[in-house]
Amino acid sequence: MRDYRPDFFDFSPTVYLNCAYQGPFPRATAARIEQAVQLKCHPDRLHPQEYFDLPDRVRARFAKLVGADPQEIAITNSATQGIGIVATGLDLKAGDEIIISSRNFPANIFTWLHLRRRGVRVRVIRPAGDHVTPAEVEAELSPHTRVVALDWVSYTSGARLNLTALADLAHGRGALLVVDGTQGVGAVPLDLREAPVDALAVAAYKWLLGPYGTGFLYVRPEVQERLDLAVVNWMTVEGSDDFDALPIEEFTLPRAARIFDVPETPNFINLNGLEASLEFVEQAGVAAVFSHCTRLLDRLAAGLRDRGLQLSDAAQPEHRSTILAFKAESLAATGAVHRALAAEHVAVSLRHGFIRVSPHLYNTEEDIERLLSVVRRA
Ligand SMILES: Cc1ncc(COP(=O)(O)O)c(C=O)c1O
Repeated sequence: MRDYRPDFFDFSPTVYLNCAYQGPFPRATAARIEQAVQLKCHPDRLHPQEYFDLPDRVRARFAKLVGADPQEIAITNSATQGIGIVATGLDLKAGDEIIISSRNFPANIFTWLHLRRRGVRVRVIRPAGDHVTPAEVEAELSPHTRVVALDWVSYTSGARLNLTALADLAHGRGALLVVDGTQGVGAVPLDLREAPVDALAVAAYKWLLGPYGTGFLYVRPEVQERLDLAVVNWMTVEGSDDFDALPIEEFTLPRAARIFDVPETPNFINLNGLEASLEFVEQAGVAAVFSHCTRLLDRLAAGLRDRGLQLSDAAQPEHRSTILAFKAESLAATGAVHRALAAEHVAVSLRHGFIRVSPHLYNTEEDIERLLSVVRRA
């Protein structure tokens, strides 16, 4: 594999192993944003057609990334917004049930809990291990279940769920599978033609290396039909690209997920940067990101085992992702290791008692060795 370090900024003296927290911009993204800033300095250079072409180019890249059709993609500003579009758009009533996991990131918890004001019952699975199992989901399913909402890759342990098995379970009971893919999409290959989830919400500022405040929502067409649209984004109605003759009393919405696009969709600075980041990820290839990161994490896992540390379920081949987490013999000891890493400029995160390590293409074996040497001394 080629050396990708020159494509990024120099992080030294830090060893940055924290892409699950914030993905850094490739240099190409920063350059594209600088160009976009000029559009705002000189608005005469901003062509009206770009209000529509830029989002559509980004949409096409998102679609390609996950094996979807552009008609199935809405551009959002966060994972929260994507999940909210589904949660508030479905006609959920008193007596309906939702299943979530206590391991979900809050974006995939609070929106659902908020539906309790309508009498919706939210069943929260508290998994025995680091990830929710299909058996644990099955035990909560009932004839009233409408949605199973889970995170594909855990933000704490890095354990990846089997979406096909979960979709089969949910669909077998007539429920939808709604997934937060933020910690996997861009780094772990995903083909939605093989994993039939109903909706997938993703924040693009981590593994897609995009700006903060960008993301997307995939929604299967049959589910789009079921979603009530709370707010009409004027840019999505038919004819909105003719600024000189905008519709007034009547409007027609296309049958496509873009009706859910975040208003002011062509946020030029963010979306230009995002386009460059998506180009970068596409050119490098998600499979290459995955194989590079898992090779580094295999090395890490071996070194941590040698030192007697406990690995998260992400160390198991069927749950692996580009995140691996570990803990020492006690919470206090884990905290001490984390502090030692911070003092030695090794950037990782502490999440629910785990030290979470998340490399990317700019990381090398030496970075892993540096982390292991600090752990050995801590
Ligand atoms: C699994 C997961 N989903 C979503 C987010 C971020 O959500 P949002 O884009 O709504 O801020 C994070 C951030 O850490 C995450 O780990």
